Amino acid sequence: MKLLPTLSEVYNQASYPITGHAKRNVQVLKEALASYDGELDSDVYGSGAVIEPFQERMAKLLGKPAAVFFPSGTMAQQIALRIWSDGAGSKKVAYHPLCHLEIHEKDGLKELHHLEPILLADTTRPVRLADVVGMEEPVACVLLELPQREIGGQLPPYEELVEISAHCREKGIKLHLDGARLFEALPYYGVAADELCSLFDSVYISFYKGLGGIAGAVLAGEYDFTEESKVWKRRHGGDLISLYPYILSAEYYMERRMPRMAQYYHEAQELAALYNACSTITTVPQVPVSNMFHVHSALPKEVLEPILIAVIEETGFGFTHVLRDKDDGGSYYEVSIGDRYAELPKEKLRDAFRMLDERVRAAAE
Ligand SMILES: Cc1ncc(COP(=O)(O)O)c(C=O)c1O
Repeated sequence: MKLLPTLSEVYNQASYPITGHAKRNVQVLKEALASYDGELDSDVYGSGAVIEPFQERMAKLLGKPAAVFFPSGTMAQQIALRIWSDGAGSKKVAYHPLCHLEIHEKDGLKELHHLEPILLADTTRPVRLADVVGMEEPVACVLLELPQREIGGQLPPYEELVEISAHCREKGIKLHLDGARLFEALPYYGVAADELCSLFDSVYISFYKGLGGIAGAVLAGEYDFTEESKVWKRRHGGDLISLYPYILSAEYYMERRMPRMAQYYHEAQELAALYNACSTITTVPQVPVSNMFHVHSALPKEVLEPILIAVIEETGFGFTHVLRDKDDGGSYYEVSIGDRYAELPKEKLRDAFRMLDERVRAAAE
């Protein structure tokens, strides 16, 4: 008996994947390194011509005195919160219940650093001023993730960020930015990176989300803070003898994709409108505020998945490779726009959405 293909199998075969930049394969690194001179010396344990000028450029871009390259955001952010906690003599830090540290890091912050998170807001919305002002216990640090990935990339209004920052400064609370997708959020806010980062004491950015590099992160802040973070980076085993594959690919893709962030943002809005015209489907947020959003359907996963598989096979458009259950019985998946979207044949895309709409409508009846 022939087994039906899975959603990820049909997605991988699709002629027109809708999301992302390109396949995550070795070509991504080959393309990035092709333009560099093979005689360029490697960085060595955090020093050298590949890493130091790059860190300086990142510090300048983020408007901070110094920046340090890390192999991962997971490492960089746990260290940032540890430093702020030690400085304040308090184990308490506050963040969103669905932030990366809380749900994707196997409790590293608690197990390795014995920090005690206080959860702000709820699982449907981002942290707002009232959540921060209303905290009952003193904390060393508040972490804000902009945009908040697990709720479709929602963002609080910019004016509230300014107020949160002023409140934290007044109370002596450090404010840390999880800016894994910082550049993706800037077109909506209409401000430059350094302006937004000036509201925060420490900032982390990622090079492999919207920028599409291999991996890697930068942690930026005051000089004393970044120097301390280097000690912790060594303790965590993150001070790799050579980080140049990550740094050079970060540099290469950053140059290409930073100027496209506004384009991805507008394309996300265009695509979300196609989804919102389909029966049983809504996007969160309804109008995207970055290059990403979530697609929610009232149909359960076991009903929507075979529909998606069939529509992908029949039209060649890869909508998603994974579908998840929602607590209310429906299902959802994440969409993030990259280079691929601009290349899609738009008339055929609209036809594919018409087919999706017909199938979900029939299934809902
Ligand atoms: C919002 C957010 N913060 C932090 C991280 C951690 O990044 P890394 O994979 O580099 O550890 C991620 C990764 O997906 C993320 O989405």
